[in-house]
Amino acid sequence: MAALTRSHRQRGRVVEAEHVADGVRRIVLEVDHPEPASPGTHVDVELPIRGGRQVRSYSVVRSEDGGRRLTLSVQLSPASRGGSEAMHALAVGEELTVTGPVQSFPLSVGAGRYVLVAGGIGVTALVAMASALRRRGADYELVLVGRSRRVMAYVDELRAEHGERVRVHVDDEGTPLSVPDLVGEIASAPNADTTELYMCGPIGLMDAIRSSWTEHALPPTSLRFETFGSSGRFDAEDFVVRLPQHDREVTVPRDASILEALTAAGVETLSDCRKGECGLCLAKIVDVDGTVDHRDVFLSEAQKQRSNSLCLCVSRAVADGGDRASLTLHLT
Ligand code: FES
Repeated sequence: MAALTRSHRQRGRVVEAEHVADGVRRIVLEVDHPEPASPGTHVDVELPIRGGRQVRSYSVVRSEDGGRRLTLSVQLSPASRGGSEAMHALAVGEELTVTGPVQSFPLSVGAGRYVLVAGGIGVTALVAMASALRRRGADYELVLVGRSRRVMAYVDELRAEHGERVRVHVDDEGTPLSVPDLVGEIASAPNADTTELYMCGPIGLMDAIRSSWTEHALPPTSLRFETFGSSGRFDAEDFVVRLPQHDREVTVPRDASILEALTAAGVETLSDCRKGECGLCLAKIVDVDGTVDHRDVFLSEAQKQRSNSLCLCVSRAVADGGDRASLTLHLT
């Protein structure tokens, strides 16, 4: 994303910055033009990345003082495209350009039951939602999933606020989440048809929940998610994209998306969400040398298996060993 295009850009000043889990930094911004941030909102932040200005989106974890103080939390990702590194480098007192709260993951009113599933740093999209549900007196459950407790932010705080409504699944404690059990429980409950599941986390977790949700024929509109271009199954690495229709070959660095690399090379493509959700950037895969790492939530699991197309904004390729991977694509 090249620049903030929304009209309500404003100045945000870093007033607090601290580590809240291994590799996770909590950053509190004070903004010039406060407005209420409803649950599920994020802000777009303009950051110095690779010598230019790029935009990244971060969930509003907490909004205080009428929206003047916004808390974000960012995990330093080894597969970072530069955003998390830039956010971790911010010091108290620094200023940056941000939007006001943007709603792309709204919390409905009136569902019979709410299940919120957070994988890793995905918890940031669900903290405010859980608080809103508690205040409303709703029937809800918060499921926190992580590899290790030391990298999971907000667990103690959420336990203190929500008590028994929080379930914690930690891989290295031998309590991993069983997606079939979780979705099976929802499907067999009397209020299955009015239960909504909100999720934010790694693409593998979200794909597994989506498949299980479909298998149980639960209402598709009751499954809601936030992605922010989730991490993939493989670490990001450089690869080559060939475009026979343009007679071009473009290298995609590990810290850029195909879409960004093509744009930088002057190749125009369609895009909208840039988070792997809308499918507007879909391109046909003509040939692949390596493995495609589908990171979107637009294609179904079966379409990802067939791998005839991919979302340029988030998906990548990795080598099967040896040389760099290469993808031959046809842009639509
Ligand atoms: S721009 Fe929406 S999926 Fe890529």
